[in-house]
Amino acid sequence: MSKDKRILVTGANGQLGQEIQRVSVAYPKYEFEFLTREMLSIDNDAQIRDKFKKFQPAFCINCAAYTAVDKAETDKDAAHNINANAVSLLAIACKQHGARFIHVSTDYVFDGNATQPYKVNAQVNPQGVYGVTKLEGEKLALSSNPESIIIRTSWVYSEFGKNFVKTMMRLMKEKESLNVVNDQSGSPTYAFDLAEAILEIISSGKWKAGIYQYSNTGIITWYEFAVAIRELINANCTLNPIPTSGYPTPARRPAYSAMDTSLISGTYDIKLKPWKERLSACIDRINATA
Ligand SMILES: NC(=O)c1ccc[n+]([C@@H]2O[C@H](COP(=O)([O-])OP(=O)(O)OC[C@H]3O[C@@H](n4cnc5c(N)ncnc54)[C@H](OP(=O)(O)O)[C@@H]3O)[C@@H](O)[C@H]2O)c1
Repeated sequence: MSKDKRILVTGANGQLGQEIQRVSVAYPKYEFEFLTREMLSIDNDAQIRDKFKKFQPAFCINCAAYTAVDKAETDKDAAHNINANAVSLLAIACKQHGARFIHVSTDYVFDGNATQPYKVNAQVNPQGVYGVTKLEGEKLALSSNPESIIIRTSWVYSEFGKNFVKTMMRLMKEKESLNVVNDQSGSPTYAFDLAEAILEIISSGKWKAGIYQYSNTGIITWYEFAVAIRELINANCTLNPIPTSGYPTPARRPAYSAMDTSLISGTYDIKLKPWKERLSACIDRINATA
């Protein structure tokens, strides 16, 4: 297959990485190289150079990240190494090999004090180590390789890995009642939809470097998310809305993290999908594979 059809995907065992693997079957004209952490640790420059030399990708999608938000507070060096330094290594490798780089970032670059969806150029002000390191990663990607595309996303879930939806589905079967935070608002993202959006960008043939934001449509609280999950799985568990102060965590979360997604939908003609419809699709898939 010609070089311009080769796509290298890092962090292939994560939620997004696995969803890209699933979506990739709809893109037979591309040749994918899916690399798990064991196959390529993105903080290892020699390994990166080796993989790029062997595979000669036209595109690299970085799905690898240090995503343990609370652990990052006491594991700063590791979070910084993977979310910032390693992103720069990948961005440079892309530049050297003439490959286009897509990197995924987060709503946690914002402080959460907004009252309407954050525009891509809104003031950033991360509140914790994870957000700080992800912001650094955005900056390093663009400074090392100005042709990079960054896609910020939020509240990611899928049938793979650990996420809010799967945790709630399990707990609602085990417990009679659950407390869920009701003063943090944001937009959920089904990782399958983000995977499709990324491959649509690549196959569109339009490449416009810069920062984009992607989520499903609608703004809800975690409590509202849990209520919808309960309804879709027909559980009887009592859900109690609580304030953030009732569920203390090492890392501060933004109280409001909805993002304006009009740039990605307008630039690449990507149709954004309603959160509840997509939650239902994910739950159907989880149930089908259980
Ligand atoms: N999950 C969310 O709610 C959320 C929200 C906003 C933005 N994001 C961003 O979205 C992207 C995808 O997130 P996700 O939910 O798919 O994350 P995930 O499920 O935690 O997957 C991350 C993957 O990266 C791998 N990884 C960690 N360190 C690595 C290294 N040094 N080299 C290679 N791979 C490494 C992990 O491997 P191990 O499993 O072996 O550690 C894991 O497979 C990330 O950039 C994340 O920051 C996620």
